[in-house]
Amino acid sequence: MKMTPKIFIIGSVLVWAASISLMVIFPWISMEDEPSDIWTPMNEKEKAGHDIYVNNGCHYCHSLYVRTIDWGKGAERISKMGDYYQMQPAILGTERTGPDLSQEGGEHTDDWHKAHFINPRYTNPLSLMPSWEFLGEKKIEQLTAYMQHLGWKMADKRMARQEKWQEKAIEAYEAGPDSNITWLHNNVPEEWRNMPNPYPATDAALARGRNIYENFCLNCHGPVGDGQGKAAKYLDPPPVNFTTLKRHLAEDKYIGGIFYYQIMNGITGTAMPYFKRQLESEKIWDVSNFVAVWFVGYTDANIEPRGIDASYEPEWENPYLEDPPTMEEMDKKKEEDQ
Ligand code: HEC
Ligand code: HEC
Repeated sequence: MKMTPKIFIIGSVLVWAASISLMVIFPWISMEDEPSDIWTPMNEKEKAGHDIYVNNGCHYCHSLYVRTIDWGKGAERISKMGDYYQMQPAILGTERTGPDLSQEGGEHTDDWHKAHFINPRYTNPLSLMPSWEFLGEKKIEQLTAYMQHLGWKMADKRMARQEKWQEKAIEAYEAGPDSNITWLHNNVPEEWRNMPNPYPATDAALARGRNIYENFCLNCHGPVGDGQGKAAKYLDPPPVNFTTLKRHLAEDKYIGGIFYYQIMNGITGTAMPYFKRQLESEKIWDVSNFVAVWFVGYTDANIEPRGIDASYEPEWENPYLEDPPTMEEMDKKKEEDQ
């Protein structure tokens, strides 16, 4: 066919029309205006939080939707159009400098969010997210309400779990530090309470554990493990003071399995996050040994019961194994000290 001006113009119009239908008309007709199976409406506070989110450009670092190609990253649910029903404007964000927030609701307690918004380094020492303290208390509360809404019905379930356990954790904390520790340890399944740390607390292992502590735990539990990190004043209940734990060693035969379980699963209802997605097994045992040796002053590492030794076992004799003092002995010593 000969290329005449007429053919050229008709051809251009056809290409233009095809692009418009593919990129505008087709998506527009196929758009559903129906809520998804998990959708719930936002209340006024959550809407205010949504506006703050949009106005402050949180979407430059966070996405609000899980794409099909994210399946390999452990996403539980691929986002659906109806999840964003009535969200105006629905700024989904494409950047992933920070984590995806589409299922953020109920991942953490409100007090965790407060400390995190005031200074993300308080809860995550390595975070590069900016501080939002300048927004003021009211706006931080609205933003938190919006975060807790994300995930809709799925978030509501997590929130209900957080609230149930928060009530119990605060009650246990208010009953006094010793009974709080007993409460915390009794909530660890029996099998884990009867398990020593299988990793020897060698110098190398403690150095690894210290590194993890500094990168993940420091600003909550504090540089000397007394629970007085920078986040502590925003948290209820506050972080545990590890240096008092020796008093419990008479009650608890082992400390390794208890720590592992708590670090892995977090303590729902408190700001103590779970680390099972961020730290693999050896790292949890190492940081648990570090806390035990440096702050508690005792570790049950590498003691019986043991199965078949691994092909690689560092040479290490546990020097901490003299009988841990009983509660009575500790109380007596405390009275004498006073
Ligand atoms: C410069 C990029 C950046 C900006 C802007 C930013 N964030 Fe973040 N955000 C991050 C990074 C990185 C993390 C992961 C480390 C952490 O938890 O602080 C994060 C973590 C979070 C988390 C915790 C997620 C979890 O469960 O661990 C929340 C909630 C959050 N951001 C909300 C917001 C909100 C709301 C805004 C806007 C007011 C915002 N972020 C702005 C980078 C950013
Ligand atoms: C955002 C703050 C925060 C961070 C980060 C944090 N914790 Fe905690 N942690 C807490 C709070 C709060 C509690 C106490 C809960 C209570 O008293 O009910 C706690 C309790 C614990 C306990 C229970 C102690 C016991 O004897 O029952 C252990 C163990 C622990 N944290 C270890 C860690 C380790 C290890 C890290 C880092 C990998 C870490 N935590 C990071 C806030 C935090």
